[in-house]
Amino acid sequence: MEIFVDTANVDEIKELWDANLIDGVTTNPSLVAKEGRDYNELLKEICAIVDGPISAEVIATTTNEMLSEARAYAKIHKNIVVKIPLILDGLKAVKVLTSEGIKTNVTLCFSPLQALLAAKAGATYISPFVGRLDDIGHTGMDIIDQIRAIYHNYDFETKILVASVRTPNHILSSALIGADVATIPYKAIKQMLTHPLTDKGLDIFLKDYKKLQDKLK
Ligand code: E4P
Repeated sequence: MEIFVDTANVDEIKELWDANLIDGVTTNPSLVAKEGRDYNELLKEICAIVDGPISAEVIATTTNEMLSEARAYAKIHKNIVVKIPLILDGLKAVKVLTSEGIKTNVTLCFSPLQALLAAKAGATYISPFVGRLDDIGHTGMDIIDQIRAIYHNYDFETKILVASVRTPNHILSSALIGADVATIPYKAIKQMLTHPLTDKGLDIFLKDYKKLQDKLK
C-alpha cells in the first residue's frame, strides 16, 4: 500500500519525504487555509520536495470552471493530481480531464455507488472518507471493502485512496483489505512507526551491552 501524507505543511512533508516514509501528498482547501499561504505557491514548493503524486483540489463547482482550474494546476508540475468533488459537474470534468491525460482524484466519496460512478468516469483515484463516516455513526471501513469488491468485479483501474484517516486502525484495515493508497495525517504516520516495546527493548539491549563492556574493562 502506498502512503501519502494528508497535509499542506511543508516542514512535515519534507521530514517524511527525506525519511522515505511517504510516496505522495494530498492537500485540500481546509489544510491550505490552516497554513495561511497561497495555494499555488505552496504546491510549487511541495512539488520541489516530493517526486510522487501531489493532489491539489479545485474550488470551482461547475464543470467548465473546474476544467480551467484543473488545467492550470496540471501546468504547475507533471506530478499534480487534480482533486474533483464527487458531484455531477465534477464527474463530467473527470471524463474530459482523463481524455486530456490529466490525473484526477475524486474526493468527498461516502458510498460504494458513488465510487462506481467515479470509476466509470475514469477517475485515477477515488477518495472515500472513512473518518467522517465514523463521525456520523457508520463504520467507514465497510465502504473500502465494498469498493474493493466492485472494482475487482469489473476490473476498474481507479485506485482506492483511503482518506479521512484518523487512527492506526484505519491504516491497518486499509492494508488488510488491499487499498491502493492511504492518505494519512502526519501524526498518524508517526504513530505507525513507534511502539513502546521497541523503545523499551532497545533501552534494555543498550544497557546490557554497556554492562558487558564495563565488565570486560
Ligand atoms: C484527503 O484527501 C481528504 O481531504 C482528507 O483526508 C479529509 O480528512 P478529514 O476528514 O480528517 O478532514
